[in-house]
Amino acid sequence: MTERVVLAYSGGLDTSVAIGWIAEETGAEVVAVAVDVGQGGEDLDVIRKRALACGAVEAEVADAKDEFADQYCLPAIKANALYMDRYPLVSALSRPAIVKHLVATARKHGAGVVAHGCTGKGNDQVRFEAGVQALGPDLKCIAPVRDYAMTRDKAIAFAEKATLPIATSKKSPYSIDQNVFGRAVETGFLEDIWNAPIEDIYEYTANPATPREADEVVISFKEGVPVALDGTPVTVLQAIQQLNERAGAQGVGRIDMVEDRLVGIKSREVYEAPGAIALITAHQELENVTVERELARYKRQVEQRWGELVYDGLWFSPLKRALDGFIEEANQYVTGDIRMTLHGGRAVVTGRKSEQSLYDFNLATYDSGDTFDQSKAQGFIDIFALSAKIAARRDLA
Ligand code: ARG
Repeated sequence: MTERVVLAYSGGLDTSVAIGWIAEETGAEVVAVAVDVGQGGEDLDVIRKRALACGAVEAEVADAKDEFADQYCLPAIKANALYMDRYPLVSALSRPAIVKHLVATARKHGAGVVAHGCTGKGNDQVRFEAGVQALGPDLKCIAPVRDYAMTRDKAIAFAEKATLPIATSKKSPYSIDQNVFGRAVETGFLEDIWNAPIEDIYEYTANPATPREADEVVISFKEGVPVALDGTPVTVLQAIQQLNERAGAQGVGRIDMVEDRLVGIKSREVYEAPGAIALITAHQELENVTVERELARYKRQVEQRWGELVYDGLWFSPLKRALDGFIEEANQYVTGDIRMTLHGGRAVVTGRKSEQSLYDFNLATYDSGDTFDQSKAQGFIDIFALSAKIAARRDLA
């Protein structure tokens, strides 16, 4: 039987050409698999037929939108995950979701090799291959753009010569990756880090500077899971989609940053993630109300480490799994409502309500009815500051 290679297929130029290119390089038959993580655009069936027309022996498509929201975006919300304090891990979350389908398809077709369309300079190649190694340690990975020098120009020439049913003219100057959790735009004129982003590059968000009425939303969480918007029950996918619309219309979630890639390069990235930013902002504030201080402080370190592991492609790894256990436990009481104003590019919390609240009005109030015993404060401070005081006696002498 001819060897088979399973390719993660997007329907775009590079992976369409990769089908024939891989077949020529390896002599193998290529099976294409396209995974819908909410990237929008073309119908999955159109993509499936294109893969076949480009020479795939079989083509499979998977609607993984709910799976992506429930199993990948939700843990990121519970972790308040923001790489370098800003980036909600949009692309980093989708790779392990795609890898799962890639490996399952390889198993189904008895393939020993999987392939992806990444270059050799980015994080995504690491995420694909580290993920494949974790889920199918016996599988081999190939990346035609990186391993067979399949440049853009050569890909266009290949597509034209083979008359593949794919547009070769429409050349966007940007490298874009998008899914339901957000959108990443890089390259082109953005590579000059002094250049400001232009309005044209945004698709998920309206210009935050345009005057408009503010929007107000109440997000309800149950144990860290967003379960309702304005009292109407939603799935995690619906929560992200609806907040993409509403927060996106207010210009929320635009991020322009220089970030540290795993491969050592600093790169300029523009992101838009309106739903993700609204949900994480709300979730964070509900934690402020419901999570005990020491747990909350420690969780911040865990969140940062969790985000780095996911960014670095270690979704399927022992430490990430163990931290998931911690994050799950810490979300046990994160139940309640957060009211937010979405306006002018910002998602601002204006109210919180929770049956699990640790906020005690009688302890916090400065009005009469205060139950906090202020007479205990002085003794507490004396002992709390004692070691610093003893050291100061020596240091100031
Ligand atoms: N720099 C981001 C990340 O590593 C976005 C990558 C986007 N991928 C792309 N092919 N444009 O998560």
